Parts: sequence; structure tokens; C-alpha cells
Amino acid sequence: MFNAKAYSAASATSPLAPTTIARRDPTDTDVQIQILFCGICHSDLHQVRDEWSGVMPTVYPCVPGHEIVGRVTKVGSAVKKFKVGDLAAVGCMVDSDGTCPECKAGLEQFCPNFTLTYNFPDKHTGGVTYGGYSDGIVVDERFVLRVPENLDLAGAAPLLCAGITTYSPMRHWDVKKGKKVGVVGLGGLGHMGVKFAHALGAHTVVFTTSPSKKDDALRLGADEVVLSKDANEMAKQAGSFDFILDAVAVPHDINAYINLLARDGNLTMVGAPDQPMPVSVFGLLFKRRSFSGSIIGGIAETQELLDFCGDHDITSDVEVIPIQKVNEAYERLVKADVKYRFSIDMASLREE
Ligand SMILES: NC(=O)c1ccc[n+]([C@@H]2O[C@H](COP(=O)([O-])OP(=O)(O)OC[C@H]3O[C@@H](n4cnc5c(N)ncnc54)[C@H](OP(=O)(O)O)[C@@H]3O)[C@@H](O)[C@H]2O)c1
Ligand SMILES: [Zn+2]
Ligand SMILES: [Zn+2]
Repeated sequence: MFNAKAYSAASATSPLAPTTIARRDPTDTDVQIQILFCGICHSDLHQVRDEWSGVMPTVYPCVPGHEIVGRVTKVGSAVKKFKVGDLAAVGCMVDSDGTCPECKAGLEQFCPNFTLTYNFPDKHTGGVTYGGYSDGIVVDERFVLRVPENLDLAGAAPLLCAGITTYSPMRHWDVKKGKKVGVVGLGGLGHMGVKFAHALGAHTVVFTTSPSKKDDALRLGADEVVLSKDANEMAKQAGSFDFILDAVAVPHDINAYINLLARDGNLTMVGAPDQPMPVSVFGLLFKRRSFSGSIIGGIAETQELLDFCGDHDITSDVEVIPIQKVNEAYERLVKADVKYRFSIDMASLREE
């Protein structure tokens, strides 16, 4: 074992604070990574504050972070894909059984025995996994991704969660030219959703509660922007969408969006509010509409996404912050004051 610097929360009400954690020495199949940037996902905030206590209670101390890019500093003897000095990335998962039907289908995100990057039982240490708000991490090479060299690293980090989480359902629901696609909530996930819907050729409409984000939505690739609190603007869009991606982190009126779907249209939730949201069944019956969810994406698809972003020069619009500002960033996330992802420059932790 070796010591790594990190930021952790001691309880649901404690701010994140500097700490030291133990990481395992790399095994034969492991890659050791010096973390350069780590994005701040709203899931980090949900988890740190134990807002998902009903589904995934938080184990403290909690070191969040699952949008990790860095450089390889050590490799195990059996590692084939990476060598010291390579760029490398890690997302929301660090292990799975590799043998179940989901894993065999390349859908590790649905494996009943997967290991999430933080707040999950750690098979190696017997403790809990610690995420990317740290200067280093050790991960089995099966869960380490390659980063295209042309991408800005601070902006590439959020691709590992915000990117794959929006890309995967768009591919699954066949977003392409000729389709009308909505994206609800212009935050970290939402702004990536806009970039992908646009890059895939769809007519893209952003739904936002923030009038101040209108110009940015158009710049990010939206063809139209709707203020979701304006009933007239919403009514004009009724029954017209093939697909809507909802990336809002708090409970809200889901039926308002179901009613915007055309026949056979689908509304997919990627936002993960902590409370149930009522669905009016009649909204689904009348046009054979469907309402579903999606969680991140498999490892092969995450690599496909990173390569797609390399080819199309897509990264997240980031505000780079030192780790000492992480608690301030959390407060701004709660207020939807994010443009459009915070990315922590981990040099600030090494220098601490
Ligand atoms: N399914 C998955 O695999 C997965 C992966 C990652 C994250 N998530 C979840 O996805 C959600 C979004 O994450 P994120 O990192 O993108 O969060 P975020 O950056 O905080 O963005 C959320 C956006 O939701 C909108 N919003 C906020 N309050 C609202 C309200 N009261 N009513 C309507 N809209 C509101 C805001 O956009 P506007 O200002 O435009 O309204 C806000 O920017 C979180 O719940 C997170 O846990 C799920
Ligand atoms: Zn995330
Ligand atoms: Zn499996």
C-alpha cells in the first residue's frame, strides 16, 4: 500500500477537507495513474451529502470523483494497453465480474457485481473505494480508457461521466439527422447532451429554467431554447419530440415533458432526483410513448465516445478550479450556477 493525498467528507454535513488515503500497490493487471484533472459531477454532491441514502447510503469518510484523467506512472507486468507516460482515464466503474450476461454484452454498467469508483466495497483493500479527488489511483486495466491526444485534458475529464451518460442513451434511442431531440437542464450532463445531439445531426431543443443560459444553449449547438417555466413556450412544442433526455437533479414535473413527445417518442431520465416523481399513465397511453432511464455506459462504449470526441473535437465547457475551492463549487451546483462543469486541477492538491 502507499499513501495518496485526497479530499474527503467526514459526514453528510461536513465540507470536503484534505486527508491521506491508502491505495493498493499495482497488481499484475493494474495501472497506476497520477490524476491531472477530475470533474465534479452532481452525483458527487448527492453522494457526499447522503442524498441517496435509500439506494446507495454513503460510507464515510467519502472521497468522491469519477471523471478522472491523468498519466500512467506504473503498470503491472501483465498490462498490455498502457505504458508509463501514457494518458489514461477512469470513469464511474473500476471493476465487474466479467462473466455475467451483461458483462459479456459489453454492458458492465448493469453487472450485478460491478464496483463503482467510490463509495463501494473495495475487493482489494476490504474497505471502501475512493474516487478521483486525489493525486493518484490504481485501477485494473480493463477499466482504464485511452484519451485522444488532441483533447484538452481539463475538458476531457467530464466525458467520463457527463459525456458517456448522455451519449449512451442517444445512441440507444437512435438520435440522428431527421429526429427532434430535447435536452432538459443545462448543467454538466445537459450541455454535453446538447453537443452530442447536435453532432449526431438532430434538431436540438434545450429546456432550461435559467433565462441567462439561453445564448449559451445556442452556442453549444441548440437550434431552439425553451424556458420551461413559460407555459406558452412549452405548449408550442406539444407532441413533437422523438426523444427527450432529462438531466435534472431535483424532483420536477415529468408529465410536462411526456406531453411533448410524438407518437412512440421516448423520455429518458439520466438525472437522479432523490424523491419519486409521479407519472400520468394517460400521457403514455395516448401516443404509445415510453418513459425510461439510463445509467452511464459500458467500457467499450465509453472508449467509442472518447474516440468520437477526439474525431469531432468535443470536450466539456469547464471552469477549472483548484481543489481548495471544491466546497464553493458544490454550493454553486445547488444553485444551478455552473458553466458547465467544474474540473479540478489536481496540481493544486500536489502543491498543498
Ligand atoms: N444516470 C446516470 O448515469 C448519471 C450520471 C451522472 C449524473 N447523474 C445525475 O444527473 C443529474 C444531473 O447531474 P449534473 O452533474 O449534470 O448536474 P448539474 O450540473 O447540477 O445540472 C443540473 C441542471 O438541472 C437544472 N435544474 C436545477 N434545478 C432545477 C429545478 N428546480 N427545476 C428544473 N431544472 C433544474 C439546471 O439547469 P437549468 O439552469 O438549465 O434549468 C441545472 O444546471 C444529477 O441528479 C446526477 O446525479 C446521473
Ligand atoms: Zn457522474
Ligand atoms: Zn458482470
